[in-house]
Amino acid sequence: KWMIWHHELVLRSDVRVSPDDRGYVFGDGIYEVFRVYDGRIFEPEAHFERLIRTAEGTKLTLPYDTASIQRRLEELLDREGVRDGTIYLQITRGEAPRAHPFPAGAEPNLMAYCKELARPSEAMSRGISAVTLDDIRWLRCDLKTLNLLPNVLAKQEAVERGADDAIWHRSGTVTECSASNVMMVKDGIVRTHPANHLILHGITRAVVLRLAKRLEVPVREEAFTLEELASADELFGTGTTIEVMPIVGVDGRPVGNGQPGPVTRKLQQAFEEEIA
Ligand code: PDD
Repeated sequence: KWMIWHHELVLRSDVRVSPDDRGYVFGDGIYEVFRVYDGRIFEPEAHFERLIRTAEGTKLTLPYDTASIQRRLEELLDREGVRDGTIYLQITRGEAPRAHPFPAGAEPNLMAYCKELARPSEAMSRGISAVTLDDIRWLRCDLKTLNLLPNVLAKQEAVERGADDAIWHRSGTVTECSASNVMMVKDGIVRTHPANHLILHGITRAVVLRLAKRLEVPVREEAFTLEELASADELFGTGTTIEVMPIVGVDGRPVGNGQPGPVTRKLQQAFEEEIA
């Protein structure tokens, strides 16, 4: 019932967004999704670093410093009593009559809300299915902007084809999923697309790579092809809401033996300990 609007905790029912908000008319804004475990924000520094990078990449000036935004988010969690859930934070370039150039003098609009969300335990133990789709996005997928139409269309196509998610590829090179990163395992080696302009630099991705190194699981940040994916022993997605999610079927064919594999399990276990 409470949310953050600009820099204040307000009742959700009191927030009014202008039809001139550039987030609304142009998708001209940026966002973050934070995970909350046991009342605490998971990996806040990494999320705020990414927010700063995205703000710089979109020439959007953050209206408040990230330390004070974080304090507000923590107040919000307290007020709402959320223990396990997510926080959605969005900042748009503000309100102005519709014209493409940046408006002079417009103040960015910041809003955030939190909600309870259970961990996807059942899906994590069973695994999910995916379809492969052409990655039709622009060339700055490392920026976490509000322009999510390709992501929405990909997820919808996956759902319509009876799958849980979409795995994107550019001319046969696998990039990521519609709202998560993707890693394959072959002969005990974890492979994932390098963190360049073609993927979002997932916070969960970074945590999982760190855990893999700690466990001495070999990791290669090298892109893989659809052919390599087809011969993968294991496949999994990583993301704020899905954590480490086994992908056990792709385009109607099983991955490996069609069950979550041992490397995936090991990383899930390590992730579990990391958030405990
Ligand atoms: N999605 N790739 C894309 C395209 C994403 O949208 C996301 C996150 C990720 C994973 O990043 P992280 O581990 O930092 O959550 C990768 C969020 C959760 C969303 O849009 O809802």
